[in-house]
Amino acid sequence: MIKNIAIIGSGVMGSSIAQSFAVSGYSVTINDLNEELLQKSKNRIFENLSLIAKEVGLDEEQKQSNLANIHYTADLEEAVKEADFIIEAIPEVIEWKWELYEKLERIMKVDAIVASNTSTFPISRLMEKASFRERMIITHFFNPGHLVPLVEIVKHPQTKETVVDVTLDLIRKIGKSPILLKKEIPGFIANRLQTALMREAFYLLKEDVASARDIDTAITAGPGFRWAFTGPIEIADFGGLDTWQRVFENVAPNLDQSVEAPEIIRELVEQGKLGTKSGEGIYQYDEMLVSQKLNERDRNFIKLGKMKLEVLLQQTK
Ligand SMILES: NC(=O)c1ccc[n+]([C@@H]2O[C@H](COP(=O)([O-])OP(=O)(O)OC[C@H]3O[C@@H](n4cnc5c(N)ncnc54)[C@H](O)[C@@H]3O)[C@@H](O)[C@H]2O)c1
Repeated sequence: MIKNIAIIGSGVMGSSIAQSFAVSGYSVTINDLNEELLQKSKNRIFENLSLIAKEVGLDEEQKQSNLANIHYTADLEEAVKEADFIIEAIPEVIEWKWELYEKLERIMKVDAIVASNTSTFPISRLMEKASFRERMIITHFFNPGHLVPLVEIVKHPQTKETVVDVTLDLIRKIGKSPILLKKEIPGFIANRLQTALMREAFYLLKEDVASARDIDTAITAGPGFRWAFTGPIEIADFGGLDTWQRVFENVAPNLDQSVEAPEIIRELVEQGKLGTKSGEGIYQYDEMLVSQKLNERDRNFIKLGKMKLEVLLQQTK
């Protein structure tokens, strides 16, 4: 049975994944390279949990008990020695991941499951130099990991079926919605779908078909509204497959087919304009606006999450 969780890397994803386990009662140990980074993670989790507490009416005692489930250490061995399930959430640099796996092989429990939160590496590449393939898996959480339900699960051809089953069960127990990929594919599923849509959004912006704000509204008030509850395949059934056959035949030949990043993104990156983190991207932001926007985004996600949970509970009654 999985009791102790170790999270390696306390950045954007590691912190929020740790929080997801801690609020479900698991004992979590977070590891990073130094105490300063761990303190940043502690602050981030405290703020995230405080917002949730405010939005869902969690009392102070519950909040403190959730926080008490998380331990912080800069000592890797200390973090993993008792762990039943280890999630690696260090940066997307293959050599760093290989180096970490090599260390883990020497210090983790012989039956610990190792999961990577990689967003781009195939599991076969992650495992090129490691010998624990039968207990390796990808658990790909989405940012913000403590709020977005989806977790994509990818197995190695040698991953044991029991490891897959335990992982799916664990991810469900923390209230997330896991999906299992039947085979390896670059970008997994959600990022492929998202990138296909964003390629077209940036094409429409380049062609000056509408303003950036209106293109965004076309999604948030249109397909995005539906997508929280009905996926694209079901939407085809609801709309009528004969209708969708015509939509594909009339629209697909006109869609953007480019294989490189949109020109506007490449130009802005070259100028150091990276979006909210630099104060300017497609839109302009001052520091105040960035924290306001993030707060607003998280509050909306919490409300949507609550609503989805209620719908799920009704369906399972
Ligand atoms: N940010 C996202 O939106 C997102 C979404 C899904 C998946 N991912 C994936 O999750 C992983 C982590 O991404 P992130 O955005 O959280 O990165 P991040 O840069 O915010 O955090 C990474 C953390 O790992 C720490 N670290 C580096 N080497 C380490 C080591 N050897 N041992 C312990 N800690 C170490 C760093 O100090 C840093 O705090 C990556 O594989 C990324 O591709 C990111």
